[in-house]
Parts: sequence; structure tokens; C-alpha cells
Amino acid sequence: MVFTSTSWKLKAIARRVLPPSLRRVLKHRLGKNRNTGQDIPVSSNFEVIKDEVSSEFLHGWQDRSVAERQHAAFVPLLQQMHEGNPREDFAAVAKAVQMTALKNPLIVEVGCGSGWNFEVLTHLLKRPVRYIGLDYSFAMTGLGKRCYPNTQFVVGDATALPLREEACDILLSGTVLMHVLGYREAIRESRRVTRKWCIFHTVPVLQKRSTTLLRKSAYGQPVIEVIFNEEELLDLIEQNGLILRHVLSSLPYNLEEVLQEVSKTYTYICEVV
Ligand SMILES: C[S@@+](CC[C@H](N)C(=O)[O-])C[C@H]1O[C@@H](n2cnc3c(N)ncnc32)[C@H](O)[C@@H]1O
Repeated sequence: MVFTSTSWKLKAIARRVLPPSLRRVLKHRLGKNRNTGQDIPVSSNFEVIKDEVSSEFLHGWQDRSVAERQHAAFVPLLQQMHEGNPREDFAAVAKAVQMTALKNPLIVEVGCGSGWNFEVLTHLLKRPVRYIGLDYSFAMTGLGKRCYPNTQFVVGDATALPLREEACDILLSGTVLMHVLGYREAIRESRRVTRKWCIFHTVPVLQKRSTTLLRKSAYGQPVIEVIFNEEELLDLIEQNGLILRHVLSSLPYNLEEVLQEVSKTYTYICEVV
């Protein structure tokens, strides 16, 4: 938290007191933008996959550059939240945890990136949060440990979680189901390691088309994306012994141009039966 907000405060001060020419020189000298790739789009080059998925698309998120770029992209969003204007997905994840009505749950977030949802939950719920972040990228969890030194981070794959049965109260699948080819296993694993609730956060869905695989570039690296037929997704959730209790709208994500059908994202709050 200190890490992100401090760098933003410094930037704001620099913007106020330094002339643009000097700011540019300093930026270059200090290498500020070397790896943030601010000119590289978060998402681009969407294409429906009709053949085999080549393995490079399964490891794009593990590239070190992605961790740094993703982290940099979220710094202003966190700042915005601290100024009282949380983005839709931040608001949804906090509301989802609140809706479980658990007093002091242990939350494991799968696909945690550099762990900003820990900051989001602590800030929006206005209380300390028991949280463990898990990601399959060493670079993401490393960055998480640096940003939130008192929080635990673990490296692991969503399809084979390195956790015992019923290890947590809430398994938060953090905008990750859409990036996992083995999403069936990921749902099964989510259910296995939670005692009470699974939150499938910011899942892109459509209504008519069956579940569709896309490839795209995320922060400059090749990744896959699963856009779920909502009925198929809800069947899978039910087959794994979970009951859908609440649904919240999350971030707008309309890929109509690629899918010829409107897509949206929702956060599904499911209880263990
Ligand atoms: C879009 S980011 C989501 C970050 C954050 N949880 C959020 O809700 O905004 C997806 C994250 O999932 C991670 N990820 C992708 N595939 C994964 C897998 N198979 N197992 C664990 N993490 C994975 C990526 O490294 C990336 O940090």
C-alpha cells in the first residue's frame, strides 16, 4: 500500500513543481517507464480460437514484464479508489465478501496478481482482512510480497491448488477463471479448498453462443480467454456442490465485435452445500 500510494504522491508533486522538460529527463534517467509499458494496451488482438491452443498462450501471464505492467496499470485505479471512486470490479469484490456475512473470514485469492485486491478489501470493507494471495507467476507473487510485506503470497496453479481441503472460508477466484483452459478443474479445486463460499469474480459471460475460447494479447503477451455461456457456467458450479446465492455486475466487457453477441462480466457468490 505504501509502495503504490507513495509513488503516486511523488508523481503528483513532480507534476506540480517541475517543468515538463525536466520531468521528461528525470523520467528517462530514473527509468520510470522502462517496464511499465504504458504504451502497450491491457488487452488487444482478440481472435476466436478454432484450432489447438499453442502452449505459449498458456504461459503469457508468467512473463515478468506482465507482472510489472499489470501492477503499473492498477496504481492509478487504486489511487482513484482512495479518492472515493472505486472501479466497478473493486466495488463488486468488496460487496461480494460482505454478502457472505462472515465475520472474519480467511480469504484465499487465486490469480491475485500483485495482490491489490487485499488493499481493495481492506479499504472498502474498512477493517483488517485475513488474506492469502495465490498466483501461478513468481513475478506477480514477488511483487505482491514487496507491496504488502505483512501478507502471505503463494505460487500455485488454479487447476491444482497447493492447499489442503477446506483450507479457507472464502475462495476468491479473482478474475482468473477466464484465463484458465482447465476451468473445469479450477472450479473443482476452488470448491475443494473452501469451507463455506466461492466467489467467482468478474467472469465474462454470454447467453446464446456456447463457451468460447479466444486468444489475445494481455500487456503485450499472448494469453487465452474463456467467455462462458452463462448456463454452462452455472451448471458447472452446481455440479461441484455449490449453490449460487448472489450475482453482482462487475466491469463492462463487451466483445460483441469478436463474438457477434454482447458479453458482460458478473461476480458469482456461491455457497458450499
Ligand atoms: C486479470 S489478472 C486478475 C488480477 C486480480 N485478481 C483481479 O481480480 O483484478 C489474472 C491473474 O491470474 C493469474 N493466472 C493466470 N492463469 C493462472 C493459473 N492457471 N493459476 C493461477 N493464476 C493464474 C495471472 O498471472 C494474473 O495475475
